[in-house]
Amino acid sequence: MQAPARILVVVASATGRTARMARAVAEGAREAAAQVVLRPAEEATNDDLTAADGVILGSGVHMGGIAASMRAFMERAAPLWLEGRLVGKTGAAFVTAGLGGRGGGELALLTLLANLAEHGMILVPMHNRLAGFRDAGCHWGPVAWTNPREGRAGPTPKHLEAAHAHGRYVAECTARWMRGA
Ligand SMILES: Cc1cc2nc3c(=O)[nH]c(=O)nc-3n(C[C@H](O)[C@H](O)[C@H](O)COP(=O)(O)O)c2cc1C
Repeated sequence: MQAPARILVVVASATGRTARMARAVAEGAREAAAQVVLRPAEEATNDDLTAADGVILGSGVHMGGIAASMRAFMERAAPLWLEGRLVGKTGAAFVTAGLGGRGGGELALLTLLANLAEHGMILVPMHNRLAGFRDAGCHWGPVAWTNPREGRAGPTPKHLEAAHAHGRYVAECTARWMRGA
């Protein structure tokens, strides 16, 4: 029997909104029989990365890009790039942003994916048949618009549905890739 896919979810979340998306991503991956480790970016280590078959990065959008704790995590992992230790693992991303299309959500997603691509990982985009795609879908990965200034406590159930569906899909793709299908 094939070993379960090991999925690492790393999340940078200052006020808990992206962390809620991360928990939904993790639940989705577990539903696809993956073993999931969920770590805050401040605590995630290079050993966590090398132990995983697939890595899913999530960040709150800060000043048009990713949060500083996610950037620090990426820079701590630079030695793994030198040794090619993450080549051939799968990678995916999600974000939450306050301001809809104006706020840099897409750029943050692309920054996360660019980092995974730099390590030689197989990127898993979000496709338009996944649940929640119409509300929180972007082909780079799920985006929750949290609108904190309007007093709305996003992510919404639809955002969480998208995160769950994407987590499940990434885990399924990782398992397929592992068995060479
Ligand atoms: C320092 C800081 C900078 C932010 N910059 C942006 C921004 O440029 N664009 C945006 O859409 N939202 C911005 N936000 C709002 C957050 O992205 C949004 O509230 C997000 O859901 C927070 O996620 P978290 O609860 O996981 O930290 C910013 C929030 C903080 C704290």
